[in-house]
Amino acid sequence: MTAPVTREFAYGLPKAELHLHLEGTLEPDLKLALATKNGVDIGQSTIEEVQASYRFNDLTSFLAVYYPAMEVLQDEDDFHDLAAAYFARARSNGVVRAECFFDPQAHTSRGVAIETVIRGYHRAVEEAREEGLSADLILCFLRDLPAESAMETLRAALPYADMFIGVGLDSDERDNPPEKFAEVFDLARENGLRVTMHCDIDQVGSIDNIRRALTELGAERLDHGTNIVEDDSLVEFVRDRGIGLTCCPMSNSFVTEDMKGAQIVDLMRRGVNVTVNSDDPAYFGGYVADNYLALAEHCRLDRDDLARLARNSLEVAWVDGDERARLIGRLDDFLAEN
Ligand code: ADE
Ligand code: ZN
Repeated sequence: MTAPVTREFAYGLPKAELHLHLEGTLEPDLKLALATKNGVDIGQSTIEEVQASYRFNDLTSFLAVYYPAMEVLQDEDDFHDLAAAYFARARSNGVVRAECFFDPQAHTSRGVAIETVIRGYHRAVEEAREEGLSADLILCFLRDLPAESAMETLRAALPYADMFIGVGLDSDERDNPPEKFAEVFDLARENGLRVTMHCDIDQVGSIDNIRRALTELGAERLDHGTNIVEDDSLVEFVRDRGIGLTCCPMSNSFVTEDMKGAQIVDLMRRGVNVTVNSDDPAYFGGYVADNYLALAEHCRLDRDDLARLARNSLEVAWVDGDERARLIGRLDDFLAEN
C-alpha cells in the first residue's frame, strides 16, 4: 500500500478526461447568465432554484432535466464560453488531455446551425491548446432520434471534420441498440473518424449491445461499459485488445443505485484499461479529480491505483505516439515527485 490518497494528489495527477459531455458542464451560474443574455425563461432565477430542479434517479429523469436547459445556448460565443469554462476547470483538475463529447442534434433541433455549435466549441479548443491543454471534440448522435437524423447530422458536420476527431452515441440506450446506427458509423469510419459509444450501466440487453458495439460497429472505446464483468469472454476481448472503458463513478451513483466501484476496480485488477471521468459534472456533483477521490474513498484505493487509472486514460486517449509519450512523461514526472 502506497501513501494515502490526498486531495492534492488526486487533483495534481496528470490525466486524460475521455467521457465528458460539454453540455453537461453547464453550471447554474452560467445557465442563469446565458438565460438573461438571450432572454430565455428557464423557470428559475437563482442558483438555489436551478439546483433544486436537479431531481433525477435514473438516466431518463436526468435527460428530462438536461435537454431543456440547453435552450440558453444560442450563439457561437455561448458554445465557446461553455467549453472555455470547462477547460479552465479541467486544468485545475490535472487534466492534460480532454476529449469532449457534444450533441449537435440537441441544438439543431431547436434551430441553431451546426456550424455555430462546432465553431464555438472549436474556438475554445484552440485556445485551450494554446494554453498547453491537449484537447479535441467528439461528435455524438442522440440514439433516441431516428438513424436518418444521425446520418443527416454526420453529413452536415463532415465539412467541419477537421474540427472533431471522432463520433459517439449517447442519450437513452433503451430500445436504441448500436446496430440502429450501423450505416452512420460506417460512413464516419470511411471519413477517418474514430468511434466510441455509450454502453450504459445496467441497460436492458447490455451484454448483447456491448458485443455488437465491439464486433460490428467498430467501437474503439466503450463509454461506461462496466457490465462486461458479467461475461468473462467479453472481459478477455476488451483486455486483449486494450479497449478503454470510460467510467464515471459519480454519475453512476445518480443514475443507478451505486457508483459501480467494485466493478470498476475488479476490471482494473484484471488488466482492463478502465478510466475515470466526470460525464456531466455540473449535474453530478464533481469534476474528474472529484471522481478519482470518490472512487478512492469508496473502494479504499491507494496512490498506485489512482496512478494506474490515470495511466490507462493516457494509454487509450486518441493521440499519436509522440503526444502519448509526452503526456505519459508528465505523469511519470509527477509520480517521481509525489
Ligand atoms: N448524455 C449526457 N450524459 C449522458 C449519459 N451519461 N448517458 C447517456 N447520454 C448522456
Ligand atoms: Zn455520458
